[in-house]
Amino acid sequence: MQITRFQIAGEPTVEQMRQGAELARQIQAEWVLGIGGGSVIDSGKAISALAPNPGDPADHLEVIGKAAPLKTDPLPFAAVPTTAGTGSEATRNAVLSAPQHRVKVSLRSPRMCPRLAIIDPALALGLPPHLTASTGLDALTQLLEAFVSVRSNAMTDILCRHSLPRVASALPRAFEDGDCLAARSDLALGALHSGLALANAGLGAVHGLAGPLGGQSGAPHGALCAALLAPVTEANIAALRRRSPGSPALERYVEVSRWLGSIDGKGAENLVHRLEELASRLRIPRLSSWGITQAELPEVVRKAQESSSMKGNPIELSDSELHDVLTHAL
Ligand SMILES: [Fe+2]
Repeated sequence: MQITRFQIAGEPTVEQMRQGAELARQIQAEWVLGIGGGSVIDSGKAISALAPNPGDPADHLEVIGKAAPLKTDPLPFAAVPTTAGTGSEATRNAVLSAPQHRVKVSLRSPRMCPRLAIIDPALALGLPPHLTASTGLDALTQLLEAFVSVRSNAMTDILCRHSLPRVASALPRAFEDGDCLAARSDLALGALHSGLALANAGLGAVHGLAGPLGGQSGAPHGALCAALLAPVTEANIAALRRRSPGSPALERYVEVSRWLGSIDGKGAENLVHRLEELASRLRIPRLSSWGITQAELPEVVRKAQESSSMKGNPIELSDSELHDVLTHAL
């Protein structure tokens, strides 16, 4: 068997994926194997999808292209994640950046779910603390957003109820001791569950905002989600109390706050404090540390309102509410 390597540094661009697909065609690849973090797994999915579908990759992209369905089945793709974050090993899309448009867009198809995913928590042993923190908080965000999503269902609830408490407990342990296999195991399973949950229940405003912020700034996805999680949760709870006080999402936020160590009877707002404490313990940088400025925020809000992730949010947030969230996280 012959193996040809294609390396990815950072989050994949549309152009890199065009080159990867071209290489796969040249060598007549029969399989694609992705070993690495979420960016590598997304790259493998995109290359395996584009290789047997020559032409302009943009034709198949959402937002900037025609989102045309793939004509031919992707090459078989096997995912071997070495971080516990995006859950991309269990989803049907690859997120690509289009620098000339300053956006991130999805290549999506029901045929793009990896044929095989190998989840080995030992592969993440020794991952540096800042990557453990940002990737782990991405998984935690995905579990929380799927749990309160308007599309949540009995199956995704089981995944979230299993893994949300475990990820919240394991994250500080893996941050402080990168070689703790028990903590890495909870994170690896939690990330997988977060991918299954988001693929079946959708996401919310954290991911709605993180997409355009990442496209404009180039900041890593996990770091953006980590910085936005507490401010978005605070805005959602406040908006639900004002406009939809009977929403089941409020009870769900209380449930999550208990898993994160809140005392009973303190209400959903207590979750915001627990999430702020977690972000501060994991030394999560603010949005401004990625070069994001106040002047960019209106464009981020405009793009976020159009994103597919925003549709799962438990309540519709106005432009000014989203702007306030971003200002708070800056
Ligand atoms: Fe994510």
